[in-house]
Amino acid sequence: MSSIFGQVLKITTFGESHGKGIGVVVDGYPAGVALQEEDVQVQLDRRRPGQSRLTTDRGEADRVTILAGVEHGKTLGIPITLFVANQDQRPGDYHSLRTVPRPSHADYTYQVKYGTRSSSGGGRASARETIGRVAAGAVAEKMLRQLAGIDIVAWVSSVGGLDAPVIDWKDLTRSHVDRHAVRCPHAETADAMTDIIMKAKDQGDSLGGVITCVCRHVPPGLGEPVFDKMEALLAHAMLSIPATKGFEIGSGFAGTRMRGSEHNDPFVRRNGSLGTSTNNSGGVQGGITNGEPILFRVAFKPVATIGLEQETVDFEGNPTVLKARGRHDPCVLPRAVPIVEGMAALVLGDMLLQQKMRETVQDAVC
Ligand SMILES: Cc1cc2nc3c(=O)[nH]c(=O)nc-3n(C[C@H](O)[C@H](O)[C@H](O)COP(=O)(O)O)c2cc1C
Repeated sequence: MSSIFGQVLKITTFGESHGKGIGVVVDGYPAGVALQEEDVQVQLDRRRPGQSRLTTDRGEADRVTILAGVEHGKTLGIPITLFVANQDQRPGDYHSLRTVPRPSHADYTYQVKYGTRSSSGGGRASARETIGRVAAGAVAEKMLRQLAGIDIVAWVSSVGGLDAPVIDWKDLTRSHVDRHAVRCPHAETADAMTDIIMKAKDQGDSLGGVITCVCRHVPPGLGEPVFDKMEALLAHAMLSIPATKGFEIGSGFAGTRMRGSEHNDPFVRRNGSLGTSTNNSGGVQGGITNGEPILFRVAFKPVATIGLEQETVDFEGNPTVLKARGRHDPCVLPRAVPIVEGMAALVLGDMLLQQKMRETVQDAVC
């Protein structure tokens, strides 16, 4: 099982849904960066369950503790360990699921792969695992801001087939995004999304959607062709988030309907170097950032655990009807926004450190 992500900036997440807690070890992080628990907590609060009526009722405060790697408010250059204790476990809710794998969840595949599985809550397949990613992402973001001025903002751009109009993201901030609990910055669409999520919740059903993310002030030159191209790593990072089904960068699938003459991003002179007048490339060409904002989208499915009765079979193959108990998200999109931001920060952080190392060696050689 791979719980490790990254090459130079490397994270290892640990813990499961109904165990003692969840956490992450961040390795390869520079010394001397100011870091306190509050820097991490702001993003965990945006991921936490129970933050609005649109999310699961599981009551977790998700308070983070820095266990190691930081002294007097500064990183020490050694592994940073962050931990969040689980509080509101109700393993009883999962009793019926011991014998019946939830359709489209991870119960069946974990069982066939490992011959065993966590007895409740989805174990490592639970979205609680993403606490470690969000915490590490917040740590990475501190470094990204300090070293390169990079900032990352994600928002919900579609829910259940209801699309927000194109958002002007140039000056978009996380506070704009958080004005609506659904995390869509377009007020009217946010209200309509809230309505359809609440309707689905009342019906015991779930909805999917799309998160859009912009990474601004990314310097040119990040990305490691040919296998660790920037878009390949972003796709890897995003598709490792539970419940994701698709990734698009720049024009994405819509670009297949355009001609080269429309799709090409002409170069223009900008601030003493080159920029592009359009950004169908999404800020990446040849797997390397070109200095334009990175713009990508991530598709999330309607989550598997629903309160409606579903005809299925148990692990023995006997027909049964499953009606899930427990507390589940009717739509994970609002809570997934900081997860997308966190994973983007980890990819950019890793690529930034790799490029800085290359430049240092190059300077020494020349
Ligand atoms: C923030 C977030 C919350 C989630 N909450 C639930 C949930 O309440 N119920 C559920 O069945 N799945 C939930 N999921 C999705 C499952 O973790 C995921 O579907 C499961 O691990 C199977 O993996 P897969 O969908 O990637 O194949 C959530 C995902 C995210 C990102």
